[in-house]
Amino acid sequence: MGLRMIVHFTATNICFNPFNHFSFGFTCSNSNKLLLSKTPSCGIRLKSTPLSLYLSFMATNLHVSQSAPTHDFEATPSLQIGQYDLLIVGPGILGRLVAHTWRQEYPGCQVFGQTLTTDHHGELIEIGISPSLNWTGGKHKFPYVIFCAPPYQSSDYNGYIRLAALSWNGEGSFLFTSSSAPYDCNDNGSCDEDTPVVPIGRSRRTDVLLNAENIVLEFGGSVVRLSGLYISFVEFNLLGFRRSNLSMLLFKGIVECRPDHILNLIHYEDAASLSVAILKKKFGERIFLGCDNHPLSRQEIMDLVNQSGKLSKKFEKFIGTNDPLGKKLNNSRTRQEVGWEPKYSSFAHFLETL
Ligand SMILES: NC(=O)c1ccc[n+]([C@@H]2O[C@H](COP(=O)([O-])OP(=O)(O)OC[C@H]3O[C@@H](n4cnc5c(N)ncnc54)[C@H](OP(=O)(O)O)[C@@H]3O)[C@@H](O)[C@H]2O)c1
Repeated sequence: MGLRMIVHFTATNICFNPFNHFSFGFTCSNSNKLLLSKTPSCGIRLKSTPLSLYLSFMATNLHVSQSAPTHDFEATPSLQIGQYDLLIVGPGILGRLVAHTWRQEYPGCQVFGQTLTTDHHGELIEIGISPSLNWTGGKHKFPYVIFCAPPYQSSDYNGYIRLAALSWNGEGSFLFTSSSAPYDCNDNGSCDEDTPVVPIGRSRRTDVLLNAENIVLEFGGSVVRLSGLYISFVEFNLLGFRRSNLSMLLFKGIVECRPDHILNLIHYEDAASLSVAILKKKFGERIFLGCDNHPLSRQEIMDLVNQSGKLSKKFEKFIGTNDPLGKKLNNSRTRQEVGWEPKYSSFAHFLETL
């Protein structure tokens, strides 16, 4: 099996998105953020083909359904909700990994998935998640609810957050997966859980996230602010995706962004394990931070990728000079309070495992 890798850093960070061929892209928008490029990809072949034991484990375990998933759980009047059953709003990449980790913690529990479309319901049923499209205003309530849907697909993001809150019965935990974008730091400076956030009104993007966070906290839920997420494409396939829901990216050897902008990363699997650890501890009304504590500049990331020897084509250079800088995230307090450490201690560590 060929080695394929997706590194999917949306919104705040970078995106590179390797498939059969390893491809990735950096583009800078006018707002000087790095965004997905929708331009067709030019492929780069990978050299090596290792597959980790973890992936074998995922292959044999992820598709095991503990209970028979239904086609629309909201339409099931006799639905019995158990003590450890979990509703995932937005069962995409992170949500499916949360489902997998949750089932390891609570074998036999039911996992439900609230989606925006029916596009992935077949995939969800195959991996044991009962999907639904139709909110019923809390007809069914769940002890554990996690909101993993990104804002960009929703016209009324806060409305969906409220519907998720109304689906929580208040007994276990309600967790919202936010982003580290609201921390008000753009000079490559240090940033942790106590760093002030961007004031409401300065940026539409951070306004959406901060308003959503406030609703969750008002309902007694918790928030985890995640840094840039990445995953290998093999894992992505094992999560049951039949086709990519990610844009193919243009490989650009030269990118018009400054090379010294600091980015912060966390592997999707670690974001899932952190989310599950927070859910299990039933904190309530708390904000945590998810990152690997190994911030890297754009240049350092691309040097690591080039040096990894996984690519047959080299990234050339960044040529930007005026775009803003980033931040250096540290989540030592979250680690200590949640009792959590990442499996992938850094992006360099992740590359070594490929
Ligand atoms: N990617 C990053 O670098 C990054 C960084 C920081 C934080 N985050 C946060 O991490 C979380 C997980 O991201 P991800 O990459 O796993 O997402 P993803 O793979 O793109 O998953 C999207 C899922 O959310 C569903 N969805 C979208 N809007 C919805 C809505 N209003 N109601 C219900 N379901 C909805 C989609 O349903 P369909 O199946 O119908 O399409 C899909 O199942 C998100 O909260 C995101 O904001 C991501």
